[in-house]
Amino acid sequence: MRNPIIAALDVPTAEQALKLVEQLAPAVGAFKVGGELFTAAGPDIVKKIRATGASVFLDLKFHDIPNTVAKAVAAAVRLDVQMLTIHASGGLEMMQTAEKSAQETAQKLNLPAPLVLGVTVLTSFNSDTLAEVGCTANVGVQVERLANLAVKAGLRGLVCSPLEIADLREFLPSHIQLVTPGIRTGAEKADDQKRALTPREAIAAGANWLVIGRPIYAAQNPRAAAEKILESIF
Ligand code: C5P
Repeated sequence: MRNPIIAALDVPTAEQALKLVEQLAPAVGAFKVGGELFTAAGPDIVKKIRATGASVFLDLKFHDIPNTVAKAVAAAVRLDVQMLTIHASGGLEMMQTAEKSAQETAQKLNLPAPLVLGVTVLTSFNSDTLAEVGCTANVGVQVERLANLAVKAGLRGLVCSPLEIADLREFLPSHIQLVTPGIRTGAEKADDQKRALTPREAIAAGANWLVIGRPIYAAQNPRAAAEKILESIF
């Protein structure tokens, strides 16, 4: 089985990110570039990581009118990323257009199409924060609704909280890839991830990919931390 660990490069500079890539590359399956690093270091950081041969998950959570999202997705495909995120709450048409753009742009460039992942409800939301923005469903119902909409739009993957994996696996088609953050080994000190699973538990529940940030990059020896996590899974 391939390495399911996606190391989140939640650092503010290209130098720090590239140092982590160099240390971690053989021990992880991909690197996640999120809003902080991309805004600070630009598309160049993605090109540099890709130039090492490592896979990139571009986590910019696009949410805009379909035409704009399609163009942003096409730009991400031109950077040759392997995964990217869009908000499922952007609606059916936005998701369909994003998936189509990924497929068509990749085909033109003779590249494999990246996995376009739908983000359902952010884990920072609860029923109260959903109500603030006019959604009266509880979190579980809204996650299910958006997951079904993403599948209907033709997406092939979703980002979900570890505690949603088992429920989603009950009704999602089995080819849908689930990517989950909120992974803790139990060895690190408590932080803001309140609803976490261990790597092994998350894979057993049906996750395909684990996004792991601080337990790796904030460890004294990030490479050793990643290797230990990998060993704990298999
Ligand atoms: O450091 P930690 O392992 O908590 O990092 C998790 C990564 O996953 C971060 O990049 C964070 O932005 C992302 N993430 C998350 N919870 C979500 C979605 C994404 O922690 N619901």
